[in-house]
Amino acid sequence: MEPTDLQQLKVQVATIIAHEAGSATESEAEKIIESARSRHPEAFSSLALEWAAKRAEGAPLGLITGREHFLGIDLLARKDVLAPREETEILGKEVLGVLQSLAQEDPERELRMIDMGCGSGNLACAVAAAIPRLRVWASDITASCAELTRANAAHLGLQGRIEVSQGDLFAPLANLGLEGTMDLVVMNPPYIPTASLEKSHAGLLQHEPREAFDGGPYGVSILTRLLQEAPPFLKKDGHLLFEFGLGQARIVQALVERKQLYSDFRFAMDGHGDARAIILRL
Ligand SMILES: C[S@@+](CC[C@H](N)C(=O)[O-])C[C@H]1O[C@@H](n2cnc3c(N)ncnc32)[C@H](O)[C@@H]1O
Repeated sequence: MEPTDLQQLKVQVATIIAHEAGSATESEAEKIIESARSRHPEAFSSLALEWAAKRAEGAPLGLITGREHFLGIDLLARKDVLAPREETEILGKEVLGVLQSLAQEDPERELRMIDMGCGSGNLACAVAAAIPRLRVWASDITASCAELTRANAAHLGLQGRIEVSQGDLFAPLANLGLEGTMDLVVMNPPYIPTASLEKSHAGLLQHEPREAFDGGPYGVSILTRLLQEAPPFLKKDGHLLFEFGLGQARIVQALVERKQLYSDFRFAMDGHGDARAIILRL
């Protein structure tokens, strides 16, 4: 295919998505075409148009192509597991920053992290891929997430450094001798209040599981438990990092100050100056 034909295909794909869904980015059209090309080089243009139509109906891109991208890594995708969101890269980059500076201080030392609510394993895999001395314990409440995280660790050759379990928050990690040994705990918790999930965010539940979004009556049920339950697993000076929703910074700060379990914290901002993650130190 000539570059001009490719350009035309990109415009067609973007137009199909935009016409139905009201919003489409050129980068989505590029991703669809690239994925179709790598999966079916012979018939990629008709496949790309077919995928564009599915995307226009609201299906997440990763479910259509079978692939997700997060912080430079390629991940397998499946129904009933949250597709990693771009804003979660803010959290991922902060995790990388903390661990890379620990690795610089002592390059020989093994680093340890828990990825709680691991979903597809996006955070566990991206961070383990970037930091060779890191071991990760990843856990999620759903079997689908645990299975996909295992599959992604194997897909990226990281299975020797990522252990996956299933259960409610830290319960599956208790009694394994991990208490007091972690450099860092990370979680992208569900944080949408139940009532708004039912109303304004109802579309999310058509394609992705409730466990990924439902943060209880005020949206902070899981992250309140996280603040309480992470410290026993952390080393002295260990870090807890988590994402939260737009507009939740004040309630998160109030919860942190009320608990008095952490010595220090700061927020990480998105490109618009809104706080979207917190970095706490024990
Ligand atoms: C917002 S998703 C994040 C998934 C993934 N870490 C990411 O960044 O895309 C929240 C995840 O937490 C999991 N989860 C919800 N409640 C949980 C609980 N009580 N214990 C463990 N995991 C939980 C969900 O199944 C879901 O995979």
